[in-house]
Amino acid sequence: MKFFIDTANLDQIKEAQEFGILDGVTTNPSLMAKEGITGAENIINHYKTICDIVDGDVSAEVIATDFDGMVREGESLAALNPQIVVKLPMIADGVKACKYFSDKGIKTNMTLVFSAGQALLAAKAGATYMSPFIGRLDDISTDGLGLISEIRLIYDNYGYETQILAASVRHTMHIMDCAKIGADVMTGPLSAIKGLLKHPLTDIGLAQFLADYKKGN
Ligand code: G3P
Repeated sequence: MKFFIDTANLDQIKEAQEFGILDGVTTNPSLMAKEGITGAENIINHYKTICDIVDGDVSAEVIATDFDGMVREGESLAALNPQIVVKLPMIADGVKACKYFSDKGIKTNMTLVFSAGQALLAAKAGATYMSPFIGRLDDISTDGLGLISEIRLIYDNYGYETQILAASVRHTMHIMDCAKIGADVMTGPLSAIKGLLKHPLTDIGLAQFLADYKKGN
């Protein structure tokens, strides 16, 4: 399972990279705005900085909502660095743009996926990644993890290579449930990733080992 961090915060990206378990980064316009990164030039420079910090794929979202605009923006984003994955919204022109980019060998991430039908379209358009937002479904009393299971079944039925990127992951149990279901990738906050580390018996056991070592030395 690949681990992506879902943030534009450089300190958190660095910390996750140094932790040694990071496979990539996802961002979106809201995450950029949260870090105070505004304006096309600053956003482009921020993507370049993120690519310098991490080794893996970095999703960069287009702002255009028409096919020509998405192609123009996506091509200039992809030209920044081979790590860039062009992130496209799950609308008709986004699907068309996804097919355009996948035919050219440019990596794509279809975002704002909330149904298995949308996931099927993303796979048919050759998306590299497809991002169902599980937390936002949970927010409206709809089973986000259930959607991941449904998509896993459909993709396995036909051997689609599009990777299920579980997004809008909010906490550690989301990560564990996605791993059990077989999501290919999860993207979430650093706090959810670090939550995997915690177990009181690890801390108690280590303290005991150190205490016993000291007795004999
Ligand atoms: O990866 C998608 C994500 O950025 C949305 O997360 O927590 O705003 O639903 P959230």
